[in-house]
Amino acid sequence: MKNINDFFKAKKEKKKISMISTYEYWSAKICEEAGIDCILVGDSVGMVDAGYDSTLPVSLNEMIYHAKAVRKGAPNTFIVVDMPFLTYQVSKEEALKNAGKIMKETGANAVKVEGGREIALIIQKLVNAGIPVMGHLGLTPQSVHALGGYKLQGKTEKQRRKIIEDAQILQEAGVFSIVLEAVPSDLAKEITEILDIATIGIGAGKYTDGQVLVLHDMLGFFDKSPKFVKRYIESRNLFLNALKEFKEDIINGKFPSEEHIYK
Ligand code: KIV
Ligand code: NA
Repeated sequence: MKNINDFFKAKKEKKKISMISTYEYWSAKICEEAGIDCILVGDSVGMVDAGYDSTLPVSLNEMIYHAKAVRKGAPNTFIVVDMPFLTYQVSKEEALKNAGKIMKETGANAVKVEGGREIALIIQKLVNAGIPVMGHLGLTPQSVHALGGYKLQGKTEKQRRKIIEDAQILQEAGVFSIVLEAVPSDLAKEITEILDIATIGIGAGKYTDGQVLVLHDMLGFFDKSPKFVKRYIESRNLFLNALKEFKEDIINGKFPSEEHIYK
């Protein structure tokens, strides 16, 4: 993916979009080499890298730091950067200033914001200024306290109707794509069929136009993962064993060995 037109094209040609949420130079480099279509510098960085209980404490400058690192590692990949909690909700002007700062300082291609109708005018403001915006509906982690936890959304008929309506409002406001998180598969399918723009699912079944996972989840860095995560390798065990071996080697004098020593 080079620009937002490639998202429209993928939707039209029914080509599935791969997206990975990651935050570092080294991991972005591997994603680009693997040919991942799009990298999201997610505010999940606060939970994954910093150990926070939610994404709320993440700051604009922290996102910019990570986005710069990702751009360095993936110079040719489409990069979306999450706008952190309260950097876009307060006013259209503040949202534009903060989105503009992200675009100027990081070389990202787009920003992502969470919510529907309530942020439609804010999205329009960014889009009118030439900033591509990705939407995010369903489980929106910045609203975890209002949602009462990280859980499946769109279970009742009323919730379903609201999410469908929000998706249409976001499309109308000018987003080029929408992340659908933790919603029933048939709801994601319905939204994907209604919209002209690409949907990217996470815990939203197989009918979305693309899929996104957090790199650290799909590589198995953690003890447990949610149901929707496929663990492609068990990195945690690999790391654990490597570190134990390192310690043993030091105790036993096996490291450093001749090949690691300057003569
Ligand atoms: O922050 C993030 O990583 C995200 C994805 C899970 C969609 O928003
Ligand atoms: Na996020």
